[in-house]
Order: sequence, then structure tokens, then C-alpha cells
Amino acid sequence: MSALLDIELDSRAVQTEPEIPVASVSGQKIFIETYGCQMNVSDTELMLGILKQSGYTFAPRPEDADVIVLNTCAIREHAEERIRGRLGQLRRLKYQRPDLIMGVSGCMAKHVSESLMNDAPYVDLVVGPDSYRRLPELIAEARGDSALDVRLDRGEYYMDIDPLREEGSNAWITIMRGCDKFCTFCIVPYVRGRERSVPAREIVRQARAAANAGFREVTLLGQTVNSYRDSTCDFADLLSMIARIDGISRIRFTSPHPSDFSEKFIETMAREKKICRFIHLPVQSGSDRVLKAMKRSYTVEEYLALVDDLRNAIPDLCLSTDIIAGFSGETQTDFEATLALMAQVRYDSAFMFKYSARKGTVAFREMPDTVPEEEKAQRLETIIAQQNRISGEINATYIGRTLEVLVQGDARKGEGLAVGKSDGFKTVVFPREGVANNALTDVEITQTTLRTLTGRKVQ
Ligand code: 5AD
Ligand code: SF4
Repeated sequence: MSALLDIELDSRAVQTEPEIPVASVSGQKIFIETYGCQMNVSDTELMLGILKQSGYTFAPRPEDADVIVLNTCAIREHAEERIRGRLGQLRRLKYQRPDLIMGVSGCMAKHVSESLMNDAPYVDLVVGPDSYRRLPELIAEARGDSALDVRLDRGEYYMDIDPLREEGSNAWITIMRGCDKFCTFCIVPYVRGRERSVPAREIVRQARAAANAGFREVTLLGQTVNSYRDSTCDFADLLSMIARIDGISRIRFTSPHPSDFSEKFIETMAREKKICRFIHLPVQSGSDRVLKAMKRSYTVEEYLALVDDLRNAIPDLCLSTDIIAGFSGETQTDFEATLALMAQVRYDSAFMFKYSARKGTVAFREMPDTVPEEEKAQRLETIIAQQNRISGEINATYIGRTLEVLVQGDARKGEGLAVGKSDGFKTVVFPREGVANNALTDVEITQTTLRTLTGRKVQ
């Protein structure tokens, strides 16, 4: 995940048609709660697809479920703390109903599998990112004793499984799993294993199925999505193939690694109108010294040259990034270099984090966590304040412009308002006036904040 956008989701359960049971789990209900990045959202949909095939139905709330799974994140300490807190809350359900199966899946399941079983003995099931195919079997096993499977399997691509996708306009499609970059701060290569690309024919099959099911947008997911390669095609070829599928109007991807761009990719993105003009381009730091310590494999100069190449080839390109404040050994000068880089690039938005030392990584073992917590917090605050100012300034330039918006649903605030995304991934709110969800509509922007553009439908 040279960085899947780090979103924290509310609990989610999917309601489906009543199923004819194919296994002896008739009537058994599952509830999965997702934490972390879009890869986890996609994995939850995969698990739901696998369980549906085995005859499970879906509970709207944990209280109604026979099996509860938390699909977890391990990227920072804070993520793991939240999940431990949630497990503590759910424990009372297990005491009320001892036959309830409590499970933990995903990155934290792999990262702390042993301590999890010891610290939270009410957890019956621990399942790592490469073992979801065995989920029905593991749940059955957990009914007798506890079940644990956190083996990494470089041969697991989850071929021929139809994920149970959340309704909406966007379908997540995982095109590669794992990561080989081993950035020194990052736990992902250890919990998700080696990089492997899903065969292109499976990705095209999934994209076609998504288009047939009415999804107008697909987002291709991978930890370093632009290093995609199978025996017949690379990332640029894959994008071109998906652009030819009728019914798909927009293609997004996240997250690329700055060192894995090719000229062919840039030409493809410039040419294919369905590929949205937005790139999440994690930089992490604006200091060459820190980038080297992080093993990011590019210099500031190379990164800036890439930004220039992308902007020259793709007019109107919007950019976002990931920044880590207070990495091991980061000095005041390094920190100021990050502020300078952000001011130079002028990202549309950014995800900004305090460095969190993760057990198992090279940085944890070899690079002392030198920046005091208070200083990290201070640096993060300064970075966020600068980014907020820049985001506000960029958004203000949209006043008077007309953007094509893919309508996602009702806006959270405001009666009769709809919300959607522009091609450049700006959140746009406007009076709905009869426009349906999943429609593409032109909106003229009249007002902006640092997070939202507001406008009216062009008649
Ligand atoms: N501490 C803080 N941030 C981290 N990230 C990854 N590992 C860590 C860590 N140990 C951030 C990076 C990455 C994003 C998904 O999360 O910026 O791109
Ligand atoms: Fe992204 Fe680096 Fe982590 Fe791989 S090791 S997921 S490239 S941050």
C-alpha cells in the first residue's frame, strides 16, 4: 500500500436475497466490520462472496449474527488499539451467547496472531489475508475449538470468486496482492506477503461482471498498483483493456509507487478519457536523507520530475499524497524540506500521519524512534495546517467551472442535496433536482471549502 487511502469505515453488513443453503449452515448469519484501507473493503467483499456460496446470510448488526469478523488493519499502532477496543466491547455478546463465533481477519490477524489468541481468549477464529478461501471450513473448525490460519500463500489470487459488492457506483477490483518494496517503516510486506498480480483475464472478467451489475466506475487496487504485470500485459495494457468495456465510464486506481511509472502508462492515461485525472502519489517525505532511510527508491528531484511529466501530459490532473511526520531520525531541517515539497507540488489533498514504529519492520529493529511524541504531533499539525490552506486555495479556483459528477447518494448534510465525485476526485454537493444515483451530470461550482465543492446542475 504505497498507500491505499486510509479510510475508516463504519460497520457494514450486506443484506441479500434469501439463499438456498449449499452447506449445513442454513440460517447462519455473518457480520463483518471493516477497518483500514480499500484493499480491506475489497477483501471483505471477497469474504462475503465466499460465505454466500456456502449458504451464509448477512446480519445487519453484530447482535443479530452467529459469526462476527473484524477485518483489521495493522498499519499504525492506533489502528490495532482501536480494534482491541472494539473486541473488548463485543466480548459481552460472546458471554451472552457462548456459541457465537468471534473472528479476526486481515493484517492485524497476521501481525499479532499469537498475542491476540492469548490476550483475547474469547476470539475463536484468526484468519490471515491469504486464507479467506478456507473461511467456511475455519468457521466450522472454530465451533469445536479455536481455528487459526495465517499462512501466506503466494499462489493465492482468489481466482473465479465473485465478491459480494456493496451497492453504489464504484466497484473495487483487486489487481495485485502483497508488496515487494519493503519500505523500512511499513508492515504490509510482512502481513500481506510477496507481490503477485492477478491474471488479466480474471480482472477483465470481474470488470465485465461489475459493468453488467450496473457499476459505472471501477477502482483497481494494489499496494503498488502500477507495478502490475502478468505474462501478457502490464498496467498500461490492463487499463486500455478495461477502458474498452462497455458500461464502464470511469476507471480509477490506487496506489501507484513513484518509482514504477512508465512513459507508456503516462501516454495511456493521457489518451484514455475513461481514466480519471487523479493520482494518489505517496511521497512520505521531502528530504532525500529520510527517503533513503525509508528505502523509498526515489529522490525529491526524481519525484518532482515525475510530477512535472504527469502534469505536462495530463492537463487538469489532480494529485494527492501520503506524508509521514517524525520518522526515525527526522530533523527540523528534514521536516522543513517536507513542508517545502508540499508547497511546491501543491497537492489537492493529503493523508498525513505521525510515524508509528511497527514491530517486525527494519525501522523498528534498526532505527531508533527519535522524534518525541509531542514533537511528532506538532510537526503533523503544521503539515496539516499548510495542506488545508493549499486545498482551500486550489478548490477556490473551481468557482465558475463546470464539472462532470458521478452521483453517489444523498449528501450527509442538507435536505435534498446529492453528493458525488468529479473526475479529479473532488467531492461535489448540489441540489438533486431529480438526478438519480449512479448518473453522470454536469455541475457548475458556485462555492468551495477545503473539502467540498458546492454547485448547481447545469440545465
Ligand atoms: N507509521 C506511519 N504511517 C505509516 N504508513 C505506513 N506505515 C506507517 C507507519 N509505520 C503510511 C504511509 C503509507 C500509508 C498507507 O500509511 O504514508 O503510504
Ligand atoms: Fe507501500 Fe512501501 Fe508499504 Fe509497500 S512497503 S505497501 S510500497 S509503503
